[in-house]
Amino acid sequence: MILEYNFELWLKAGAKRIESALALLLDLEETTPARLHQAMRYAAQGGGKRIRPLLVYAVGELGEVNPSTLDCAAVAIELIHAYSLVHDDLPCMDNDDFRRGRATVHKAFDEATALLVGDALQTRAFEVLANAPCDAESRISMVGSLASAAGSRGMAGGQAIDLESVGKKLDLVGLKQMHAMKTGALLACSVRLGGIVAHLSPSDLSSLDRYAEVLGLAFQIVDDILDVTADSQTLGKTAGKDAANDKPTYVALMGLDYAQRQVEELRERAVDCLKDFGFAAQPLRDLAGLVVNRNK
Ligand code: IPE
Ligand code: IPE
Ligand code: MG
Ligand code: MG
Ligand code: MG
Repeated sequence: MILEYNFELWLKAGAKRIESALALLLDLEETTPARLHQAMRYAAQGGGKRIRPLLVYAVGELGEVNPSTLDCAAVAIELIHAYSLVHDDLPCMDNDDFRRGRATVHKAFDEATALLVGDALQTRAFEVLANAPCDAESRISMVGSLASAAGSRGMAGGQAIDLESVGKKLDLVGLKQMHAMKTGALLACSVRLGGIVAHLSPSDLSSLDRYAEVLGLAFQIVDDILDVTADSQTLGKTAGKDAANDKPTYVALMGLDYAQRQVEELRERAVDCLKDFGFAAQPLRDLAGLVVNRNK
């Protein structure tokens, strides 16, 4: 932990770390097949808030950690997230042309390439974890966690519920479950991976699981709010898409005011889950603030 903690500096250092790690762990653009490798880099580099890697780093700081092991976990989760965005934007899903301030992968390249980019980013994520410079038990544990979080009981399952709910009215329980799966699972997994690498105790891991669960819900509610309140330029993705696609969102079901009050309450609850951690958990507290108060 740096002696004089400053969240802005902490964020800058984390962002620099993840950008370098991604640059190193993705195949070079000229690797055959070049078009696929170019598109993979296009999808994963040059944009994004990197919240998931930042969570990995923040949790890792709670324990004794080899930073390069955290890099592998941070890259793996970001690659899965980047793949989920590439597929989320496809015409058969949300049909979006704009992502992270530029053309979506299927627009900049083509649909088949976008499909393969998702496939290949996903498998690269597991390859990175399998080769992480840490003990075998931690590697297996990370692989298992990421597989559950990304799969049919996690992100992919949540995306399936999202698609099958278009035009239908989910109740609040159903909506929360969808949010927990499509978005919460990968955020929770980021926290879990950091905890595995840092060899945290079961009781610390369980407090962090609760933090992550609350934060995951807050994250997707804010995403739903910004879709209504922000402009496309700021967001770097098309605003107003949820209403246009008749998506079940927190704002559609509960209204904007309620959603806004809810995220602040969730931030307080998330921070409360960290009360036993002391000053080392300050980046996690500040990240909860960032998730709730972001403008994109
Ligand atoms: C967008 O995630 C998709 C959701 C899960 C809500 P982010 O808001 O983290 O997107 P980037 O990585 O910053 O582009
Ligand atoms: C996507 O949710 C969640 C993913 C698993 C990618 P959204 O469809 O609301 O994400 P955006 O708004 O397109 O980033
Ligand atoms: Mg979607
Ligand atoms: Mg979308
Ligand atoms: Mg959205």
